[in-house]
Parts: sequence; structure tokens; C-alpha cells
Amino acid sequence: MTKGNFPVDKLKGIETPFYYYDTDLLKRTLKIVKEETKKYGFIQHYAIKANANRRILELIASEGFGADCVSGNEVKAAITAGFPASKIVFAGVGKTDKEINLALDLNIFCFNVESMPELVVLNELAAKKGKTAQVALRINPNVDAHTHEYITTGLNENKFGFSMAHLDNAIEVLKSLKNLKLIGIHFHIGSQIEDVHTFDPLCDRINELQDLFEAKGMKLENINVGGGFGIDYEDPDANPISDFQRYFELFHKGLKLRDGQVVHFELGRAIVAQCGSLVTKVTYVKHGESKTFVIVDAGMTDLIRPALYQAYHKVENISSDLPIQKYDVVGPICESSDVFVKDYELNESKRGDLLVLRSAGAYGEIMASQYNCRDIPKSYFSDKI
Ligand code: LLP
Repeated sequence: MTKGNFPVDKLKGIETPFYYYDTDLLKRTLKIVKEETKKYGFIQHYAIKANANRRILELIASEGFGADCVSGNEVKAAITAGFPASKIVFAGVGKTDKEINLALDLNIFCFNVESMPELVVLNELAAKKGKTAQVALRINPNVDAHTHEYITTGLNENKFGFSMAHLDNAIEVLKSLKNLKLIGIHFHIGSQIEDVHTFDPLCDRINELQDLFEAKGMKLENINVGGGFGIDYEDPDANPISDFQRYFELFHKGLKLRDGQVVHFELGRAIVAQCGSLVTKVTYVKHGESKTFVIVDAGMTDLIRPALYQAYHKVENISSDLPIQKYDVVGPICESSDVFVKDYELNESKRGDLLVLRSAGAYGEIMASQYNCRDIPKSYFSDKI
């Protein structure tokens, strides 16, 4: 029996909860991203933070993409999975000396530097190794991403990047740091941005900044616009692949590029979210005073997005075709926020049924924790079960 794309009979035999990845969907998504970026000579660095599962990374690396990392361990994971160092960019407001040294030793493509003290430290560490580090200044463009406040990054009040007010100073300081080479500018305004036009003001801001850098006699070879393109959590079957054509075209039309400039992207979620599901089993159906609870064996430890961002993940019972009932689907964790959906219409469910939480491929497995001494769920792949 299969329901949707789920081979129920095969999944039934696996210990729950677990992450299940549709490798075919991932490959189709990668193919489209590759085609659309190729049209304009754009470069995509997959944002490893979205999902660092070894097999997922290997599949993405094998398609020739670069990697966007935010920790030394992400850099190591990228290298292990086959991303060449020459395609690795490294961002983050708090890079430690150890992480910087690792990346310097590997000769990564670019450090996306986020503050003045980081510029100074990077220069010192590069000098000690007799190296020149390639850097892009991460600029906080003060552009509203119109998304959840926890995943907005490009406003003045956010901790990321150089503020526009400090840019002149940063450029002056950079000129004096002999072991750094400025190769570009970097931005990332936020995540789960559904309306592509949210990126219009980012393009405008980049165009203005290009003039500023040029006026100071500095040539920028690379413009990195970050990631942030969203997915359809409401209806993953109708929209399994985000509209990459519109997304990349917007930047192609919106950016006034100079000769030879290359545009870089750091998409994470839009690449991997829809291919992943969290599969869980109903432990109990509990009738409360005013509600019926479907208690499952997955919890906020395995998919924290609903508890942390009030995010919606579609839930389906793949074992039942019975009439629809209303339930709260909850996990076993000792926290009231351990709720996946409330007053939710689901096929009548019973102990032992398999439920899937959809669109869990991004910021699911990678954000899992062991709270309540739980095991981290295993992962399975559609082409290998
Ligand atoms: N580049 C930088 C510098 C970033 O900070 C991020 C995400 C990305 C790229 C990738 O963004 P994406 O294309 O995946 O939207 N845990 C949250 C999302 C946090 C995103 C953090 N930065 C969630 O589950 O919604």
C-alpha cells in the first residue's frame, strides 16, 4: 500500500520516529536549481544549516553546488561530503580562532565577515599563516523580510553583518589589513520568504552599495544575496518545488551587475524542506474533557519548528482512510509547547497508525535535541528502503 508518495508497507516495519527523505524529489529540485542558475551564471552554495545529513550533503555536492557554512563543523561536514573548499563560504557573527584557522588551512573560497573585530582577528590569523584570506563584507541592509521575527536577519536591530552606518569605516580599515582581500559583499535578509518581491528592496540596496564601493575605487567581483526563499508548507503536494524560475529571474532583472561580476546564492530550506518528512506512530488516542489528543512518539525534540516559531507542518495519517475527526496532535515531551497541530482534521486515528509531518527536510533533523534523554531519530531514503 502507498499513500501519496509514502510506501506505507515498507515504512511500517521501521522503528519510529524517523526522518524519511524522498531522494527523487531532492534530485528533481536540484536539477531545476541547476538549470535556473546556469541560465544567468549564478552560483548556489547550499546552506548546510538547513540539513547536514551526510547522504543529503553528498547528493547536493555531487551536483556541483557549493556550500554555505556557519561553523567549523559545518565546514568539516561539507568537505567530508565532497564539497570542494574552493566552493565554501563561511559566515557567522562569532567565528572562533579555531574555526577560522581550520577554514584558513583548507583555503576556503570566502569568509563572509560580520564585524570590525572579526576583520582584525582574521587578518592576524591569516598573517600568522602567511596567507591572504578572501573576504566578503556581510552588510545588514535594513530590509524587512516580512517573516517570523526569529528568522528575520536584515534589520538594524539584528546582530548580523555591518550596519550601513559603519560601512565607510570598514572599507577604510580593510584597506589597511594586508592579509585580507575584499572579493565581494554578502547579504541575507531572512528565511521562509514566500513573496519573491520581498527581495526587490534588497536588489535596490545592492545597486546603491555598488555605486558606493565604486566611488571608493573598490571592485567587487562577487555579490552574495544569501538565501531565504520559502516553500509551501500548506500544500506540499501541490507545490513540491518552489518557483525557482521567478526567484532567480528577479535577481537577474533587479541587480545592475558590472562586467564579470558573479552572483552567489545560499538557499537552504527551498532545496531540502519538501523532500523530508518526520514519520511517527500513534501511541495513544486520549479523550480529554473538550478535546481528543493524538499522542505520537515524535516530539518537539525531533521537529522543533512548531514549538519554536509556531510553524505549521502538514500532518497526514498514512494508515487510515476512515472519516475525518478533529484532534490535537501532540508529542510525549514534558512541555506544553510540544504540540504539532491543534483542532486539526485528520483521518480517524488509532494506536499504531503512522502519521507523517510533512516539509520537515529543512531545520528538522538538524535541530533535533536529546531533551528528555531521547534518541535522535534515524534517517531513511526512498531509494534505499
Ligand atoms: N545564509 C545565511 C547567512 C543564513 O543565515 C541562512 C539561514 C541561510 C543562508 C539559509 O536560509 P534559507 O534559504 O534556508 O531560508 N531554523 C529556522 C530558519 C533559520 C535560518 C537561519 N539562517 C526555521 O526553521 O525556520
